[in-house]
Parts: sequence; structure tokens; C-alpha cells
Amino acid sequence: MSPAANKENSPNLLLAGFMGTGKSALGRNLAMRWRRRFYDTDELVEKLAGTSVADIFAEHGEEHFRALERQVVESLLPEHGAVIACGGGLVVPPGMGALVRSKGIIVTLFASVDTILRRTAGNSRRPLLKGDDPEATIRDLMKKREQAYLKAGIAVYTDGRSLQQLCVIVERVYEREVRALLKSRSKSE
Ligand code: S3P
Repeated sequence: MSPAANKENSPNLLLAGFMGTGKSALGRNLAMRWRRRFYDTDELVEKLAGTSVADIFAEHGEEHFRALERQVVESLLPEHGAVIACGGGLVVPPGMGALVRSKGIIVTLFASVDTILRRTAGNSRRPLLKGDDPEATIRDLMKKREQAYLKAGIAVYTDGRSLQQLCVIVERVYEREVRALLKSRSKSE
């Protein structure tokens, strides 16, 4: 295990990216390897609202869901030492990318439309993909969100890579970013 990843007071690692890119699976795995706490913002939103993501969308709409996501990032995330999987649209609204970056190091996961479609098929947990043509929705949303994803964090492409390989890649990215952060801090002191 890498030195920074293993430290309780090291920066959080936040995983962003589209639905079905594997944020939760990878996040849980890294948290286990690094012996850190794992958080999923969808779960925190559900706790805060006392109901499911699907019900929040159905009863109050997307805007309300985004406001809850913001509240989660602002007040429910630990300051350091955790691995956090972000809901797929969390870094997209104006200002959210910067807010999330203030909470740690962000890695954005990417996957092809085919992979996303396969991974999200038949999953009723994702209200945005409920329509008749999920492939068209994925393409459309991806196009609208791509720039926000790229700006939010360091891009890692997941297609053709095993969970094990992704753990190694993200761990290296994280370590490199922590080193850069420490260096820039020591320069400014
Ligand atoms: C959403 C992604 C979902 C969840 C909600 C909205 C999105 O999270 O937050 O359904 O806007 O992309 P996952 O990426 O964990 O599926």
C-alpha cells in the first residue's frame, strides 16, 4: 500500500464521472485497500432526505436533488482521510466542480457509451435513464457534461481495464497529486 493513501490525514479521494463508470465499485475497493472510510454521495443524499434518489426525482424534481447534493458536499463530507464516490451529475452544475475540488483530489472516470449502457441496463435506481432510449440519453448527457467532467478532475479511462488495474492506476494518480500538493504547500510557506 502506498504511503499517502494509508494516512488518515491525507486528502480525500473523490471519484467523479458518468453513471456506470464504476465509481462505487472502485471507491469501495480502494477504501478497503487503503483502510479508509468510504462514502457514496447518493447514499448521503438518501439519508439526508429520508427517501430514495428515485423518489426524490419523482416527488421533487432534479433541481431539488442537486440542492441536496450541494448540501451533502458542503456539510456532510469528512475533511480528509476518506474515499468518496460522487453521484454522476454532482460536479456538473456551475460552481460544483470547484466546491468538490476543495474537498480533496478528484479523479473522473470515463467509459464508452456501450460500456455505460451495459452497466446501467435494467437498473431502476437511475431515474435519468428511465426513458425509452437510454442510449440516446447517455450520448446527449455525456456531450453536455464532458467538459465539466474534464475540468473537475484527472481523467481515467476505464474501458478494457479490470478493477485491479484501475486500483493501481488511480492509486498512482492519487500519490502523484498528493506529492504535488505537498510540494506547492511547502513552497508557499
Ligand atoms: C445521476 C447519477 C446517479 C444519481 C442520480 C443522478 C446523474 O449516481 O446521483 O440518479 O445525474 O448522472 P450514479 O452515478 O452513482 O449512478
